[in-house]
Amino acid sequence: MRKLRIGIIGTGGIANAHVNAYKNIPEVEVVAGADIVPGKARAFLDRHGLTEAKAFENHRDLLELDLDAVSVCTYNTTHAVCTIDALNSGKHVLCEKPMSVTLDEAVEMVRAEKKSGKILTIGFQPRYDVNMQMIKQIVQSGILGKVYYISTGGGRRRGMPGGTFIRKETAGVGALADIGCYSLDMVLNAIGYPKPLTVSAYASNYFGTKPQYHPEASEFNVDDFAAAFIRLEGGTVIDFRISWAMHMDTMGDTIFLGENAGLKVKSPGLGSPWGGAWDGGVGPIYLYQDILGQHTETAIPLKQNYGPSIFEKKVRDFVDAILQNRPAPIPTSEILYNQAIIDGIIRSVESGREVEINIPEI
Ligand SMILES: NC(=O)c1ccc[n+]([C@@H]2O[C@H](COP(=O)([O-])OP(=O)(O)OC[C@H]3O[C@@H](n4cnc5c(N)ncnc54)[C@H](O)[C@@H]3O)[C@@H](O)[C@H]2O)c1
Repeated sequence: MRKLRIGIIGTGGIANAHVNAYKNIPEVEVVAGADIVPGKARAFLDRHGLTEAKAFENHRDLLELDLDAVSVCTYNTTHAVCTIDALNSGKHVLCEKPMSVTLDEAVEMVRAEKKSGKILTIGFQPRYDVNMQMIKQIVQSGILGKVYYISTGGGRRRGMPGGTFIRKETAGVGALADIGCYSLDMVLNAIGYPKPLTVSAYASNYFGTKPQYHPEASEFNVDDFAAAFIRLEGGTVIDFRISWAMHMDTMGDTIFLGENAGLKVKSPGLGSPWGGAWDGGVGPIYLYQDILGQHTETAIPLKQNYGPSIFEKKVRDFVDAILQNRPAPIPTSEILYNQAIIDGIIRSVESGREVEINIPEI
């Protein structure tokens, strides 16, 4: 059988994980890479032993090749253009998270997906964590009853990235999109991704902009902290906060309050140098209920993730979806709402008031 031919757009840090995952899949071969930094794609491919693969300095040249699919591993502000061009040229796309920077971009990506009939999946690998799946199963089982309030986010005490992540021109958004999109996905996915209606938000960057905290402080112009109150269709509200840096060990656990029971997911990483980190992992889980009128607290044992890493599982599932003619494993119909919230948070921060989230029909 002919192998699926894969191209990598953006050959920076995370592209290494994509190529390593593709290399473990016998049905595919990575045949090209593109990066706007001259020589970067060639060096990247050679470093991975892909000396036969073609290197480009413009993603549109790569897309002229006969390829089945691409991974879009560029920084956030070029996710949309690279994804839309790839879909328009008939390629399936695995785009890294966050989906984009603005809602408008995300909408255009979905329009291109629909028009092309190709797969567009967004790279939220925590969905492949068995404990993340268990959280969804618990919530979906109905044991909590109606979930009316969710508090989520957590954050790092001191864990600011650098380079393309801290510049508006390349990242578009800071902690909010980098790790905030994961905590939003965790809770929205658990409750079935209801439509977001309004958001009132705050963001700041008291750490990244100070040389004593960040070596690239003079270049730092994105958020390192954000908080928001989000109203969803059906009446659930999300109290969300995220940080790359703060004078606190944790912003608290993720909690779901339901009419019949409550669920707490503790942040993993407390006590680590990036203390209180919430990067898509799961800490201990507890269920709170009244049993015969008694307040009970049940520790739900965490499961072991066996086999390939969750990152490898995400890439494998993308390939399987292509081979088996299945829909996108992590669909844009859901992640569009994640992006709409991030977009709403940015607009609310800029205007200093609550804003409506209006998602156009696509
Ligand atoms: N899923 C995960 O666990 C995970 C982890 C890290 C990063 N990411 C995401 O992956 C993306 C990239 O992160 P990174 O750490 O690799 O950043 P990076 O800055 O190391 O790499 C991005 C690369 O894209 C290139 N690029 C930008 N626009 C381009 C274009 N139009 N055509 C070709 N190349 C282009 C840049 O030159 C750079 O080399 C980000 O969106 C980030 O949020 C995901």
